[in-house]
Amino acid sequence: MPSVTPQPVVAGLTRAAIFLVVSINPGPECETAVRALCGDLAALLRAVGFRDLQGQLSCVMAFGSDAWDRVFGVPKPKELHPFREIRGRHHAVATPGDILFHIRSKRMDLCFELATQIMSRLSGAVSPVDEVHGFNYFDDRDLIGFVDGTENPVEEGAIDATIIGEEDPAFAGGSYVIVQKYFHDLQGWNALPVEEQERIIGRKKLSDIELDDAVKPSSAHNALTSIEEDGKELEIVRDNMPFGEVGKGEFGTYFIGYAKSPRTIEQMLVNMFVGRPPGNYDRLLDYSRAVTGTLFFVPSATFLENIVPDVAAPWTANLTSNENGSEADSKSQPSRPDGSLNIGSLKKEERHE
Ligand code: HEM
Repeated sequence: MPSVTPQPVVAGLTRAAIFLVVSINPGPECETAVRALCGDLAALLRAVGFRDLQGQLSCVMAFGSDAWDRVFGVPKPKELHPFREIRGRHHAVATPGDILFHIRSKRMDLCFELATQIMSRLSGAVSPVDEVHGFNYFDDRDLIGFVDGTENPVEEGAIDATIIGEEDPAFAGGSYVIVQKYFHDLQGWNALPVEEQERIIGRKKLSDIELDDAVKPSSAHNALTSIEEDGKELEIVRDNMPFGEVGKGEFGTYFIGYAKSPRTIEQMLVNMFVGRPPGNYDRLLDYSRAVTGTLFFVPSATFLENIVPDVAAPWTANLTSNENGSEADSKSQPSRPDGSLNIGSLKKEERHE
């Protein structure tokens, strides 16, 4: 039974991150270059990460719907589709992007070096779409001054929320990720009384304690993003990062959310942008404007390592498959990583290089 190692989607909060979105240039040679990087990414990461093991360098590589069709063809992850824009009280825009690299470390220089190495491997094959360098702001606060990430699930809970299992056996060990880049109207936000800001977020600003249900409005950010299915809370793993350019007056939050189904994040977005019930929308959006929005699929690390540049779907050959692959697919299960079992692992793994 093949065991599958996920990418480090649950790597944990870090002090620095680079969010790099690129598009793949036209031509089959560009797709081949992307496939070549898939197999090499773990080795690149080991080389850069080994320069400071305490730096906890990790990288997640994820693919948009169109890119998947071009680079890997069929089969395709069940729920992979282009990001769907939402027009409600506010607008969640859909913007292009073929590949996302989510690079995290305690040190920005490690993130920067890995991003440089990745782009040098892909030189000529991709064009940059968006690049954001995120930093840790005081005690994990975003630039609106609130602690961000408190209610993230951890350990087993984080894995259960993000890593695909039997829902899509051919893609076990994978995950979905949605990114949105937000700009804040900090002047407007800071003009609000702190109590008003707290009612918008649903938590106390200084202490980060959740507001009591008796005083928390149903439009609070943490109320609208709490969703249930069959009495069970549906969770996602977020690793938002502040970014900005002071001179330009740009102050932002880069939202990144991982989940085993994109529906969970999409439902949260509808609640925020349209409202629950419609009209009861997230007032945070009166002060935060989404300027990007893209959905990607994160294949397992095992999937990436098995990619051969010249073959469109080489990884299927590695499963002990019957003719249509379904029997073997249904047996593949993700391994349960303890946080170290990922392509962020700096130990040289047994590979056929
Ligand atoms: C401008 C962008 C955003 C900012 C500044 C922001 C900030 C925050 C803050 C301060 C919290 C409370 C602390 C915490 O539990 O982390 C929070 C909670 C949360 N946010 Fe956001 N957020 C943003 C966008 C989003 C988006 C787009 C989603 C989902 C689509 C989302 C989902 C959540 C969830 C699930 C929680 C935890 C709710 C709970 O169970 O208490 N956030 N966010």
